[in-house]
Amino acid sequence: PADALTRAESLIGTIPDYPEPGILFRDITPLLADADAVRAVTDALIEPFAGRFDIVAGVEARGFLLAGAIAVAAGVGMMPIRKAGKLPRPAASVSYALEYGTATIEAHDDLTPGQRVLLVDDVLATGGTLIAAHELVAKLGGEVVGTAVLMELEALGGRAAVGDVHALFTA
Ligand code: PRP
Ligand code: MG
Repeated sequence: PADALTRAESLIGTIPDYPEPGILFRDITPLLADADAVRAVTDALIEPFAGRFDIVAGVEARGFLLAGAIAVAAGVGMMPIRKAGKLPRPAASVSYALEYGTATIEAHDDLTPGQRVLLVDDVLATGGTLIAAHELVAKLGGEVVGTAVLMELEALGGRAAVGDVHALFTA
């Protein structure tokens, strides 16, 4: 499994100056295209939390890709955390600051009180997205029992903001 993870990590691309000059974009699509890599990262994301969560929440858009795989592998349901304005029923909503402007994420209240939630996303950067996601789950009465990401960008300090995060890879 360690070899499989090392190989999976090597499939994450780094694209300079996307979407803006000075940003190094982490491209997970080569990893997603590889069956062994998808299996390895899915299992490794679940591992510390196995048997301790009832539902997995993924943040639109890239978090969905991991949450779907985790849901099937762990035998749990999934909670899509959406960008604002996409949900047809009344939804809980949390706004957070971006480098320029603000963003809002939303979710339907399909959680049962106290339901144990594993929160996943692809990348932890500043932590703004995951902090907002934690807040959203709390608003809906769920209990976040873990936070897992493929990759943590250490220089951006997200871990200090979010707290305990299970990161498979660091950069
Ligand atoms: C990216 C990434 C994380 C978030 C991390 O999402 O997928 O969700 O930024 O940044 P943060 O820790 O500073 O909040 P983004 O909203 O850019 O786009 P996506 O829809 O492709 O996931
Ligand atoms: Mg994202």
